[in-house]
Amino acid sequence: MHEKTQSITKLILKAAERARRETSAEPEPDQIARVRWPVACTVGPGLEGAIACESKVGYVNGSKGWLVYRGYDVFDLCAHSTYEEVCYLLLHGELPSPDEFKAFKEKLVDYRYLNQTLRLLMSFPLEEMNAMAALRMGTNQMRQEFSYIDHRTGHPPKMDVIGSDEDSIPMETQPKGERRAIYEFKKRGRRKRMRMNRQLDDAAGLQAAYHLIAGLATIAAAISRVQQGKLPIDPDPGLSHAANFLYMMTGRRPTPQEERVMDVALILYADHGMNASTFAALVVASTLSDVYFSVGSGVAALNGPLHGGANQQVLYMLEEVLEHGDVKDWVGQTLSNGGRVMGFGHRVYKAYDPRARVLAPLAAHLVRGNREMEPLFKVARQMEKEVVSRLGRDKKIFPNVDFYSGLVYGCLGIDPEMFTPIFAVSRVAGWTARVLEYLQNNRIFRPRARYIGEFGKRYVPLEDRAGG
Ligand code: CMC
Repeated sequence: MHEKTQSITKLILKAAERARRETSAEPEPDQIARVRWPVACTVGPGLEGAIACESKVGYVNGSKGWLVYRGYDVFDLCAHSTYEEVCYLLLHGELPSPDEFKAFKEKLVDYRYLNQTLRLLMSFPLEEMNAMAALRMGTNQMRQEFSYIDHRTGHPPKMDVIGSDEDSIPMETQPKGERRAIYEFKKRGRRKRMRMNRQLDDAAGLQAAYHLIAGLATIAAAISRVQQGKLPIDPDPGLSHAANFLYMMTGRRPTPQEERVMDVALILYADHGMNASTFAALVVASTLSDVYFSVGSGVAALNGPLHGGANQQVLYMLEEVLEHGDVKDWVGQTLSNGGRVMGFGHRVYKAYDPRARVLAPLAAHLVRGNREMEPLFKVARQMEKEVVSRLGRDKKIFPNVDFYSGLVYGCLGIDPEMFTPIFAVSRVAGWTARVLEYLQNNRIFRPRARYIGEFGKRYVPLEDRAGG
């Protein structure tokens, strides 16, 4: 245990002890039985209850509040492991040997440098863009930088000439075919036809997963820098993933405590069953698209306020309630107007979210003496009491992972705009691990929708339709 971060480890161990005291230690047998296709299950709206595939990556037990990665309890991983080790575990299924870990970390060091991607990204108005939109764009640039896949497997060109107007072309050489002001570019060699089996392709495999895990942190940090009106910073090869991420965002090497807190947060968000963004990533992968496109769609799905966008909303909500001044009244009004309290409830957890069990005491520890965050934390505590007393027993609504994470990030000096990108920087491990696993036994996703529309309608020409 690192001396300066012992207090953090103690808090995690205490949270783990409490969780274990309050829940039993046996998984529900029906949740871990092998699937015999076709499977019978009760499906609710939003595919609730549907079983999409088998997986060995991770296990979420919603009624007990457990989270397990590859057989390891997330509390143990938070207390004793690192984000890099957890990434290796999720991708490979086992903890690494010292040599394997060294080689993996060296890869991450290499892949953190994304010069071409950042150069391209910097040509966009990142300071005006939604950070998640910019991050998603970054995954596309990474794909181009790393794989050159379009040069090899893109669609065959339909035309041999590229037409353009005169103004957009440098006039260094005399154009040919001037009659229609179309300029002829050197013909490219015929592109190869699309290969169906891309298992060995670098955009569909493990290297792409490593690249994305390392690279998303670099891109997110660069976006954060530009949004602060500063230039991106190169990674420091001597720092861990968590420390590098903080360093590239803030320009300051973090203290051991800050590094440890970020590391724990990254571990907690790394994987979480078949959540919306993971499912989105799998759907894209199942078409034999590639890992970059899959991660890009994961980022897009994560952006919504019902999923990853909640952590940012929580902080804004706490600020609003602080200003309102009366937590009980605010919660009462919100619920009676049919509103949702951000950071509460979960599709799967009908018990206290184990991730919130870790983040709540971390937030309590970090806010001490922080003039901006301490009052918000007090509001959060009161709010938890109020919401749980109203909705806990009947609706099984408790704080989720996002309720306290914003306070933790706020104490690290991170802007709320970056909260959801941080989620992506961590969850990329789960997305890629599950995509690679699914591809080993791939079947394209194709659920059905029940048509409840009309039939037999007669087409009326536009000019005969009523209305101006
Ligand atoms: N505040 C108030 N009521 C709630 C909340 C909430 N946060 N969440 C659920 N409910 C109520 C809901 O109104 C419904 O009541 P009724 O049965 O009377 O109509 C009942 O609980 C069930 O809700 P649901 O919409 O069927 O639940 P769901 O499984 O579809 O939604 C959820 C899960 C996370 C989208 C939802 O709880 C929610 O909107 N929470 C707020 C947003 C949030 O914090 N999201 C982060 C989720 S954790 C991180 C992640 O995985 O992304």
